[in-house]
Amino acid sequence: MMGYFRDNVERIAGYTPGFQPKATDVVKLNTNENPYPPSPEVMRALADIRAEQLRRYPDPLGNAFREAAAQVHGVAPENIMCCNGGDDLLSIAIRAFCDIGRPVAYPVPTYTLYPVLANLEDCPAIEIPFDEQFNLPAGLVKTGAALTIVCNPNAPTGTCVPVEELASLADELTGALLIDEAYVDFADRNGIELVREFDNVILLRSLSKGYSLAGLRFGYAIAHADLIAGLVKVKDSYNVDAVAIALATAAIRDQAYFKTNVAKVRADRAILTEGLKSLGFEVLDSSTNFVLATVGAKHFSPLRVGQIYEELARRDIYVRYFDVPGLDDKLRISVGTKQQNEKLLAALKEILG
Ligand SMILES: Cc1ncc(COP(=O)(O)O)c(C=O)c1O
Repeated sequence: MMGYFRDNVERIAGYTPGFQPKATDVVKLNTNENPYPPSPEVMRALADIRAEQLRRYPDPLGNAFREAAAQVHGVAPENIMCCNGGDDLLSIAIRAFCDIGRPVAYPVPTYTLYPVLANLEDCPAIEIPFDEQFNLPAGLVKTGAALTIVCNPNAPTGTCVPVEELASLADELTGALLIDEAYVDFADRNGIELVREFDNVILLRSLSKGYSLAGLRFGYAIAHADLIAGLVKVKDSYNVDAVAIALATAAIRDQAYFKTNVAKVRADRAILTEGLKSLGFEVLDSSTNFVLATVGAKHFSPLRVGQIYEELARRDIYVRYFDVPGLDDKLRISVGTKQQNEKLLAALKEILG
């Protein structure tokens, strides 16, 4: 490197986002986007954007969205903070709670952005392994971390821990607990009750998955009003733009479309899971819009998982492969449309013979 940067910036490789192929006629199941379009109300709101909204700075707090989201969740607008995607909240939280003497802790394997953000703040990252069934590790409560993150449902496993266990964790921790619920729209339960009960819980929500708006970059925090007030001090003054506020507000107001969209993905997830199992994959029960498929012993050798991934890519079908211990016998596959899922299953059948 050049020698101009802080040591920790020189040291880290940075986060590697999933591959974004240029062609649009490919089967793209590698970055957990929703395969269906956003609500028509979002496109109407986009058409209604006026020049005046672009000339002026946006509302720093995105109050129109806060009010709409508060209504949906049965909380007050003061319990909501808008973010430039859920990733923005992760970055704000680590800057707000952590430094060299104030570690972050989280179970692993999980979202690989957490250690990158921790490194940038010179903050020690305490990684506690999940057990084989991906239960919440008992050691998480004893770390003394300033911030504990639990991704629930977890990525890349798709598994969920019960809300009751998160309640016990929140109760026992001395620091803040951020529950990364980026995928919770596809799960049976969420942690909203914890925000009412505990003053140290922050829920992360994203409009990228359940609302089909990954390109918009919009997420939000739900937490006790005092926690939100602290986080607001750390965020960029105008962290969400005027167009994003207007479109995200339209999206969250259209709960009927959102519910139908999520139900379609959940139904397709069940069919995809069964299809993969019938090809000899072991598939964990998923509470997300992706599945983690382990290539069973029957297929593991001689066709290694990396090769299956390559063979799929050759057919313009993109899934995610993590070439790291513990995950290198698995493929993470986003739930696509019915047709995309069928194409994937047909290709796998051909590749595996
Ligand atoms: C576990 C997890 N958390 C948070 C995010 C952030 O989502 P976004 O910044 O698109 O809202 C992602 C994105 O894929 C994720 O996988």
